[in-house]
Formats: sequence, structure tokens, C-alpha cells
Amino acid sequence: MDNKDIKGLTRKDFIKSLKEDKNRASNFSIESENLLFDYSKNLIDAETMQKLLAVAENADLKEWIERMFSGDKINHTEDRAVLHTALRATDKPINEIDAVFEKMYDFVGKVHSGEKTGYSGKRITTIVNIGIGGSHLGAEMAVKALTPYILPDIIYHFIANIDPDSLSETLQSINHEETLFIIASKSFGTIETLTNATSIKKWFLNHNGVSAKDISSHFIAVSNNVEKAVAFGIDAENIFPMWDWVGGRYSVWSAVGISVALSIGIENFKQFLNGATKADNHFRNTPFSENIPVVMALLGILYRNYYNIGSHAVVPYSDNLELLVNYLQQTDMESNGKSIDRDGKTTAVQTGPVIWGGVGTSCQHAFFQHLHQGTEFTPVDFIVAVGSHSPELEHQQKLLLANCLAQSMALAIGKDRETVIAELKAAGMDESKIESLATYKTFKGGRPSNTLLLPKLTPENLGFLIATYEHKIFTQGIIWNINSFDQWGVELGKELADTILPTLEGNDNPNFDTSTNLLLQKIRDYS
Ligand code: F6P
Repeated sequence: MDNKDIKGLTRKDFIKSLKEDKNRASNFSIESENLLFDYSKNLIDAETMQKLLAVAENADLKEWIERMFSGDKINHTEDRAVLHTALRATDKPINEIDAVFEKMYDFVGKVHSGEKTGYSGKRITTIVNIGIGGSHLGAEMAVKALTPYILPDIIYHFIANIDPDSLSETLQSINHEETLFIIASKSFGTIETLTNATSIKKWFLNHNGVSAKDISSHFIAVSNNVEKAVAFGIDAENIFPMWDWVGGRYSVWSAVGISVALSIGIENFKQFLNGATKADNHFRNTPFSENIPVVMALLGILYRNYYNIGSHAVVPYSDNLELLVNYLQQTDMESNGKSIDRDGKTTAVQTGPVIWGGVGTSCQHAFFQHLHQGTEFTPVDFIVAVGSHSPELEHQQKLLLANCLAQSMALAIGKDRETVIAELKAAGMDESKIESLATYKTFKGGRPSNTLLLPKLTPENLGFLIATYEHKIFTQGIIWNINSFDQWGVELGKELADTILPTLEGNDNPNFDTSTNLLLQKIRDYS
């Protein structure tokens, strides 16, 4: 990042431009087939955008995009290519991909037709995905987002955490004869997933009349580590491979998406992939000034690096998009939460912000106070669909839309003191009270947001949306000169958990830091 001379608009100029410049919204919005990206409520003018676009050019973004799509090993710390885009490409650049998708579609089709049954001949009605992080968040987010498309008679569960209470509740609610367990783990070495899978296998085998041979009717795996999956007891036929060039957090497009295909059907899953392909083509072939993920990324750069804002909120106006926030937390924060650059040096600039948020309108009654009147601003992505899936309740969708638009407007325009005073006067409040209350009721405005307006939350539009965020994250990683595709930062905690567990299970005196020793001692006392 080489341009120190980038400034956004002042609050006053921004509000003035938003109110008065008739071309602002059309100049600062991009429409694609799958969504409208309105970024006019940002602290920008044409000059700011020009300078930001130069940052992308100077980072050789175009070359990096081509390097990613063509399979260069841009994940240099793991010596891997980054090719999740190949999974959804119309012409698959890698032959094995088609074979795995065919196998997956064949399997899913057989479950849906009833040809593939449980060991006792009963139809499979329940899908349990066992996986964590990238082997969980994308798939559960997509299934939940596409709830209206879930096939009748399909019940789904996602088990990620090692919380015994949660596993036990799920197991109590399902019928083992009708359940398919999917062990999704790229490494097949993740302790949470293996612990849950082992407990579930034991639970399954404990049922009367069940023997080891029945495992093959109920357990499948998605993994890059076929040997380990086989060693666990999964029939080799039941293993759907993935590859080292698919990062976990980018793996919903691979066979990790089997839980999605099982839940919403093959055609809808293909539409989901199709939406992502459209986003890939848009990202690869559109000039940066009209390129949704690039512009999203640059706006993020503006606030992170030129305003020093460390957080970014995502607020979808749809309960079905509730899990999008968790999903983006992993995709963004595991990708760009880095402080060492591609050259092995401490980054010269701030990198990935904290991604957080919640569903509107519910969160308007929670954290929006902070967004409107907190001491610093947080840029927000508002995401909303025009049409719902419930035509009989369309008036509620209109109210949802009105709220979404109202919030971005309130953040941007605010409400000045004069207006507040005039309103209070009109309401008959006495002068002295008005004087003391007006300051509290004033909104300074000038707070930035994007609005992503979808015609409807369909599988294709969801695919487009998710892939757009992936490319935004990629673009920021390139500009910050970091590797967005490794995740060394999650390793230390895993190693330490392995060293703490024996102390928890045994009687040895804890020999860690003083805080950990105290906590271990108390755990013993309370046990
Ligand atoms: O702990 C982080 C992580 O490595 C993620 O990147 C990954 O998605 C997750 O764990 C699960 O890994 P696996 O699919 O190998 O079980």
C-alpha cells in the first residue's frame, strides 16, 4: 500500500453530497444480475475512489487474480494452489473434480429416491454433518439461508463443537435407522470432529441389532485424508475426496457441500454453484471501477487504513441469513487476521478488521445504539432481499425493507439539533426540557454503509453473494500483502489443549502459568 494521501469526505460534505448530488447513487452503485451493490453511502467522492482504485492497480491485483484462477501456488506458506474457483467453473480445469461431483450427485440422488436406505431398509430422512470451521460453517449457513428450498421430509443437524450436552441432545432427537452421518474433515485430524464422530459411532453401534458392517449404510466422509477416514472405519466407497488446493473456509463448493445438496436437492445446489461462477466471472473480467468485490475491498481499506477503524458489521435483514455473520467471521478473520506479510515481515499497515453483526431488525434493538451514537463509527454492510418466500406476508417484507433503508439513511444523514428542537417544540415540550434533551436526541450522521440488495434469496443469489465476499477478502489480502490462505494462528491453542488435557484427566500437579494452574486446581475442586 503506497498511497498515504487518501482522504474521505468530511461528514458535512458527505451528507451534502448524499442529499444534493443527483448522480451520486448511480455513480456509486454497481448492478449485476444477482444483486445491486449501493456504495453511495460511503465517505467518498470521485477523487477518493480514483485514488483507492490506484491502490488496487499498484498492488498488481489483476496479476494476482490470474495467478489464483490459474492455480499458481499463491498459498506460499503451505506450498498450495488456491483453486476453490475451479470447483464451480463451468469448464472444470481439473478432471478429478467432475468425477467427485458425479459420485456425490449419484449418492444424493439415491438417498432422495429411497434407493439408498439405512441398514434396516428404512429411508434416510435425517442428515447429521459432523465437522467444524470450514467443514461446518459454510454448509450450515447455506442450508439455513435456503430454508425455503429444503426438501420435505429432510431434517438436518450440524454438530461442530465438542460440547457433550449438545451432542447428547441431538442424538436423543434422531432415529439411528434413518440417519446419515457425514464426517466432514479435510485433514481427518481435527480433534473436535474425531471426538464427536467416535462418540457417535459408539452410540450407533450400541443399538440392538446393529453391527460393524452397518456403519457403511450410515457413515460417509468428506476428506483429503482418505487413509485416516478408512482407518476410522469409513467404507472407501463412502469417502468423497477433497484436495489440498481447497482451503477449509472455501470448501462449501466441494463435496463438503454434500449436506447442502442433500438438504436442498441437486438442482438447487447446482444453482448455488452457478451463482458463485457468475461472481467469479464478474471478479475476473470486470474493470476494477465496476467490480463489486474490488470496490467492497477498497472501501474496507479506506476505513481500516485511512480512518483506523478496526471493525466491520454485517447486518442481513433475513433470519435465514443469521449464520452469514459467523460464516464471514471465519472467512474474513481466518484469512486476513494476519500481522506477518508475504515477505515474512511485520505488516506495515493494519490488516483485517473484526467482523461482527446480527440480523435486522432484531439487532436494531440491541447494538444499533452503538452504531448510531457510539464514539467511533463502524462501517456496515446491509444485506436485504426485495422479495420474500412468503407472498401471503409480503407486507412484513416491506416493513423489513423499510427498516433496512431507514437504518442506512439514519446512519448517513443523521438528525441535526435544529430539527430535533423543532420537533420537540411541535410536540409541546417546554423550552428548558428541550434544551437539555436536544443534544441526546441529535444524530451526527456521516456514518458509512453499503447496501447489497438482492431480488430474492435464491440459491444462485446466495452463491453470488458468498463468492463476492470471498473475492473481497482476497483483494484486501493482496493489498495488505498477506497470505489469506493459511491459518497458523489457530495452531497454538490446539497444541496447548493437548498438553492441558492429561493434567485435567490425571492427578499431576499443574505446571503451567499461574492463572492456568489456579483454574486447573479449581476444576479439580469443583469436580
Ligand atoms: O482450526 C482451523 C481449521 O483448520 C479451519 O481452517 C478448518 O476449516 C477447520 O479447522 C477444520 O479442519 P478440518 O476440515 O481439517 O477438520
